[in-house]
Amino acid sequence: MNDHDAPIHEKNSHEFPIHETLGDSLAQQGISRRAFLKFCTAMASLMALPPGTATAIAEALVKAKRPSVIWLSFQECTGCTESLTRSYSPTLENMIFNMISLDYHHTLQAASGYGAEKSREDAMKNFFGKYLLVVDGSIPMNNGGVYSTIAGRTNLDLLHEVAKGAAAIIAVGTCASFGGIPNAKPNPTGAVAVSDIIKDKPIINISGCPPIPAVITGVLAHYLTFGGLPELDDLGRPKSFYGETIHDRCYRRPFYDQGKFAKTFDDEGARNGWCLFELGCKGPVTHNACATTKWNGGTSFPIESGHGCLGCSEPHFWDAGSFYSALSMPASPLKYVAGAAVAGAAAGVAVSIGNRIKKGTAKSAHQKATIEDLEK
Ligand code: SF4
Ligand code: SF4
Ligand code: F3S
Repeated sequence: MNDHDAPIHEKNSHEFPIHETLGDSLAQQGISRRAFLKFCTAMASLMALPPGTATAIAEALVKAKRPSVIWLSFQECTGCTESLTRSYSPTLENMIFNMISLDYHHTLQAASGYGAEKSREDAMKNFFGKYLLVVDGSIPMNNGGVYSTIAGRTNLDLLHEVAKGAAAIIAVGTCASFGGIPNAKPNPTGAVAVSDIIKDKPIINISGCPPIPAVITGVLAHYLTFGGLPELDDLGRPKSFYGETIHDRCYRRPFYDQGKFAKTFDDEGARNGWCLFELGCKGPVTHNACATTKWNGGTSFPIESGHGCLGCSEPHFWDAGSFYSALSMPASPLKYVAGAAVAGAAAGVAVSIGNRIKKGTAKSAHQKATIEDLEK
């Protein structure tokens, strides 16, 4: 065993005054310095940090104390938790469980009933003002919030209580970030997002239905390394992961630029891997890292598997018309696309340019840059 393969073990010296350090945790599990540096290099790359930052990240993370995390699952399908826990080991994704002390998660914890609730109450008391609150699922507001309760208490009640002592809140998934599928019309439970209720805490939205697990880990790595949240876009998402559209980085983009579109899922274009725009791909208006980070340990993402992007990381994606209808053409950017090869290409270019224009404009305009708005 050389130095790089030696288990990591360093003394506590970070400002997170909670639990053991990440270095202690990695050492206990026999994770080598080499494996950890590999993780930090991948994280630096995912967060679009300059080359050479990985070593600094590693040094900061090893000394960082693992923060207490209270994870509340509200009106949700457990897909967000499944996304994270079904990742293969050892991966970037499940490194998250080394980085935090998960003190309450009613799907994952061994304790149940009063014991489980006591774990939450103890963490809230012992780490008041310092714990992280992670939420997946939306919060039902109709009829006093009776549609989703935990230990006899409404989600709304619990959210208010636990948010009080949180240093920051991470809304995981499109349900917690924007209301998601429970918020889809006619929204019988009155489902809303975390940010619709909590106004006095830093909130970061990691949208996606479900979100990419490596992105959740990346946000936590950033928090532990730099002691705060990363730069966010106007919808509260980390710019390093949501700064570009799927379309900006899609490997089928050359076909799109040439006006080569699959017309059905089994035609020659589909077999040749042509662009899926005319089959309803919402990649031009969807901000997420799928085209670069990919899923399942970097194996693939929906478009690589032959299906268009549904726009799952954007607000109101479920109500934005058929998943299989091509995006319509906004009127204003048309002047930019004169001479495009075919109508489909013109529509796609217009949507893409429209999206970029909106990204570069004022906050209020950007907030309207959802699929729904672009389809008007
Ligand atoms: Fe399920 Fe999607 Fe909501 Fe996550 S965001 S809880 S995967 S419906
Ligand atoms: Fe890729 Fe969809 Fe854009 Fe075509 S429209 S290049 S499939 S993101
Ligand atoms: Fe969702 Fe589109 Fe990625 S549907 S998983 S944002 S490719």
